[in-house]
Amino acid sequence: MKKRYYCKRLNETLNFDALKVFYCCATRTGPSIDIPKPDKIKDIITKRNKLIRMLDKGIIPEECSGCFDLKEQENPKPLILSAFSKLPKANLIIVKHFKQCDCSCIYCCEQYLSGRKIVLKSKKSDYYDLLPIIKEMYKQNIIDKKELDVHFQGGNVSVLDEFEDLVNIFIENGVKRIEIATNGIKYLPIVEEICRKTFVDINISIDCGTKETFKKIKTVDKFEEVKENIKKYAKLPLLLRLKYILVRGVNDNIQELTNYIDLMKETGVKNSELMIDQCDSEFIQNGEFKIPNYYYDLFDFYQRKCKENNIEANIWEYIREILNKGSFFK
Ligand SMILES: C[S@@+](CC[C@H](N)C(=O)[O-])C[C@H]1O[C@@H](n2cnc3c(N)ncnc32)[C@H](O)[C@@H]1O
Ligand code: SF4
Ligand code: SF4
Repeated sequence: MKKRYYCKRLNETLNFDALKVFYCCATRTGPSIDIPKPDKIKDIITKRNKLIRMLDKGIIPEECSGCFDLKEQENPKPLILSAFSKLPKANLIIVKHFKQCDCSCIYCCEQYLSGRKIVLKSKKSDYYDLLPIIKEMYKQNIIDKKELDVHFQGGNVSVLDEFEDLVNIFIENGVKRIEIATNGIKYLPIVEEICRKTFVDINISIDCGTKETFKKIKTVDKFEEVKENIKKYAKLPLLLRLKYILVRGVNDNIQELTNYIDLMKETGVKNSELMIDQCDSEFIQNGEFKIPNYYYDLFDFYQRKCKENNIEANIWEYIREILNKGSFFK
């Protein structure tokens, strides 16, 4: 019997990037559509639904070929998706239509578009305003208000002019969860207000535990400011996570990881994420990038140290998959 497929990400996600809306998470170049004008906003959902139907019929779009998020349908009956109203509405919106940032991390995937320019004052996105699009989506009832999860990525929201307006429109419409990834250099006062109205997850990419390493990675001298801001966020009723990307030859050793755990102890943060640098995929030889053996020791050390200190040690599912395979592409 012919296999039929589905993808949870495709069913849920609208990832507003600079030039396109992608139907999957920020780390993959899955199917997409050009940014439509607000009056053509339904095109986003129409195309997504066409892709859902294709998978259900066993046709895999080229962009999804080989993706490990593709699952076989267990439901024996093909989906009946004829009326627009029966199809899932958007319930995960990723905001990354701007690339400006108040630092310039040496590993940053977004910097190729922003030209590594450090932006200190809030400005418009170089690409488009998202607020009119979101307003129109609410008006046309194509957002699942009760279930909506919003992830702010970017760029850094601290220098996006429409950041607070976007947050407010989501809050007014009863958003279920807001996740903000930030470098933590500037404190975001609106967080104090919204964390009492919805579930808020603040994810600070710090990648180190010392001033010197911070400067090497982030290319600005702002470690102390970030540390103070972490302490401020730690007092609020929200989920606060620190994130560490292993950057080869810079922070990929036991001493640097120990400094990071010490910083977590000092600031009282109880949630962490360890990640590998996606730029490592550029070191591909013979069709694959092999994860170095000492990375496994670093991941073991991280998990053990976090456990000893009662810190939740997250490793993203995608990274587990890569570690299990032993390489980026196999
Ligand atoms: C591009 S940043 C934007 C949000 C915010 N400026 C920040 O740094 O958290 C979004 C996420 O992508 C991650 N990221 C950026 N470049 C990466 C890379 N080369 N490998 C893995 N993750 C990366 C960052 O750690 C961050 O959590
Ligand atoms: S199958 Fe993979 S590439 Fe395709 S939409 Fe899903 S996550 Fe994206
Ligand atoms: S803080 Fe975020 S957006 Fe800015 S350079 Fe670093 S990873 Fe990129």
